[in-house]
Amino acid sequence: MKTFNTKILGTGSYMPEKILTNDDIAKRVETNHQWIVERTGICERRISDLSKDETPSGMAARATMKALAAANLQPNDIELILFASTLPDQVMPNAASVLQHKLGITNLCGALDVNAACSGWVYLVPMANAMIKTGMYKRILVVGSEMLSSFNNWDDRNTCILFGDGCGVAILGRAEDNEESQIYSTVLASDSTKKDHLTLLAGGSAKRITIDMLENNEHWMTMNGQEIFKAATKTMASHCEKVLADAGKTLDDVNWFVPHQANLRIIEAVGNRLGIAPEKVIINVNKYANTSSATVPVALDEAVRDGRIKRGDIVLLAAFGAGLTSGGILLKY
Ligand code: ACO
Repeated sequence: MKTFNTKILGTGSYMPEKILTNDDIAKRVETNHQWIVERTGICERRISDLSKDETPSGMAARATMKALAAANLQPNDIELILFASTLPDQVMPNAASVLQHKLGITNLCGALDVNAACSGWVYLVPMANAMIKTGMYKRILVVGSEMLSSFNNWDDRNTCILFGDGCGVAILGRAEDNEESQIYSTVLASDSTKKDHLTLLAGGSAKRITIDMLENNEHWMTMNGQEIFKAATKTMASHCEKVLADAGKTLDDVNWFVPHQANLRIIEAVGNRLGIAPEKVIINVNKYANTSSATVPVALDEAVRDGRIKRGDIVLLAAFGAGLTSGGILLKY
């Protein structure tokens, strides 16, 4: 069977206009800018405005239009929509179908939502790659879009400082025979022994939201920050080593590393473990905080648009999130 290589045809991102600074948060909970910057590297984050439709699907529509323009494509050229979100717009209809509608796509393309928390977008890229490789599809839209402000407990200083809203997308497609772009290797994993370190249990079918639950504040995210920190560092570094080994490459071959943007200290610790030069690491957690499945595609898009990542560059990507899910990708852009 003939197989095809996968190329990133275009990227796009959209961040809500409203900026929430550390000082703004310090007006509500006992914290301060210096503590937040020293422990996380985060200075500010973006917060969605529903009156501007800065929902996961609304942000994805804007980001996708940018990616389509970059790829010189039209909405109806998309043959499949894969949409990662930890908490999409609503339970039904799925965000991918809502996005199809917002983009004005009339070709009835497939539209699928996936929840793998912060790893969602990195999970979807290998799936899109497999479908392009086998010739099943030629152009797949892969979205990571999150409105974490909607389930952030703004009275809990342990978690509320860490998260923000935003969206990143990439259109993956079939590379021409004379092009070098390709996805070399990928890894997906989940360590469910650590599943209780990051949870939001209310609102699913096992734990419906009740008035008692709301009064007891049980409908918010809970996190064991230090356990997440340790697991994130170890897992992302080992995934990077695995995708490099599987592709027969070394760190010297890598031009850029795009890690999940949860905390600057996690990014630095992964970089140190790997021994990668700091100037090869793409960082924007200072501006946007942790936007879960959106962090990697947003950072990728920014680095492509400002000219750091160029055609032919080898890019290493890694993510980590609740589950505890994780993944790694090595590709030639
Ligand atoms: N402002 C001021 N003080 C605070 C704050 C705050 N916002 N939050 C906690 N503190 C206090 C604590 O109460 C504690 O005080 P104590 O010593 O009197 O008890 C002290 O600061 C130290 O707290 P630690 O939890 O030990 O601080 P740590 O250095 O571990 O940093 C942090 C906390 C930033 C949450 C860190 O553990 C972390 O980033 N973990 C990873 C979490 C993460 O990335 N989650 C993302 C979720 S999923 C994903 O994207 C992978």
